[in-house]
Amino acid sequence: MKIAVLAHNPDLYSNRRLMQAGRIRGHDMRFINVSQCYINITADNPKICYRGGEVLSDFQAVIPRIRPVDTFYGTAVVRQFEMQGVYCLNDSISILRSRDKLRTLQILSRKGINMPITGFADLPLDTTALVRMVGGAPLIVKLLEGAQGVGVVLAETNQAAESVINAFKSLRAHILVQEFIKEAEGKDLRCFLVGHKVVAAMERKAAPGEFRANLHQGGTATLAKTTKEERHMAVQAARAIGLRVAGVDIVRSKNGPKVLEVNSSPGLEGIEETTGKNIANLMIEHIEKHAINH
Ligand SMILES: Nc1ncnc2c1ncn2[C@@H]1O[C@H](COP(=O)(O)OP(=O)(O)O)[C@@H](O)[C@H]1O
Ligand SMILES: [Mg+2]
Repeated sequence: MKIAVLAHNPDLYSNRRLMQAGRIRGHDMRFINVSQCYINITADNPKICYRGGEVLSDFQAVIPRIRPVDTFYGTAVVRQFEMQGVYCLNDSISILRSRDKLRTLQILSRKGINMPITGFADLPLDTTALVRMVGGAPLIVKLLEGAQGVGVVLAETNQAAESVINAFKSLRAHILVQEFIKEAEGKDLRCFLVGHKVVAAMERKAAPGEFRANLHQGGTATLAKTTKEERHMAVQAARAIGLRVAGVDIVRSKNGPKVLEVNSSPGLEGIEETTGKNIANLMIEHIEKHAINH
């Protein structure tokens, strides 16, 4: 099959692994830099062009690995491949849903999937009431479009919470306010899903003095044993968002597991190293099974 990895940096571990896994399985793999694509939208002959004018045609599948900063343009390119009938491992609408934490939680809540108590408001007028609504400090203030732990703040007192919320608001940033799951003790569960199945899971632990478990924030990972309930929850969450490949972040609270977010381009490095699983290969196999008759 002719398969494109649609991403930004060909040297990134995840992208290298996907290219390699596809080649090992005999596919014609092509790395496409998303920002160097341009699109000609016409009724009879729409085209996706690349760099010097090459027309990108005959692809049977696309693996989108869109960075948060490229979300708008990247999902437009993915959408164009979809319009032309190409199988995209994650589709553009699902990627967009996952990029907005509020939108994700609204969808999960509709499906009855547990999450920390979360509040959202646009105006700073009601900050005090908003803080009270989610149960008061300590609480988490989160940028809706943050990633890798950047934009997640812990406010330990109501006063600190109000100051942080008002500061973000004055910058016109969109945020959500969330109950802090203290008993998680800086740990979370990253479930990696391919095709509505948890294929690997790791427990991440924050660095000393830190509450964010992200590996980019110095967190460390170990192989995780997940419960049936946790696996079911991760599958439900990815399905609700519509992702075939997803990284679902779950915190273990005293009232059971709770979903924090659903990632549409989860990194492969940490999870492959920690679990020893060949995730890139599983992603390629999924394409082989589903791209032809989609
Ligand atoms: N409500 C919360 N309670 C406890 N820890 C949290 C909470 N929200 C986030 N965290 C911690 O911060 C990390 C980053 O939060 P997350 O919502 O996954 O955003 P990001 O997109 O930046 O990864 C999580 O992996 C978790 O360790
Ligand atoms: Mg996360």
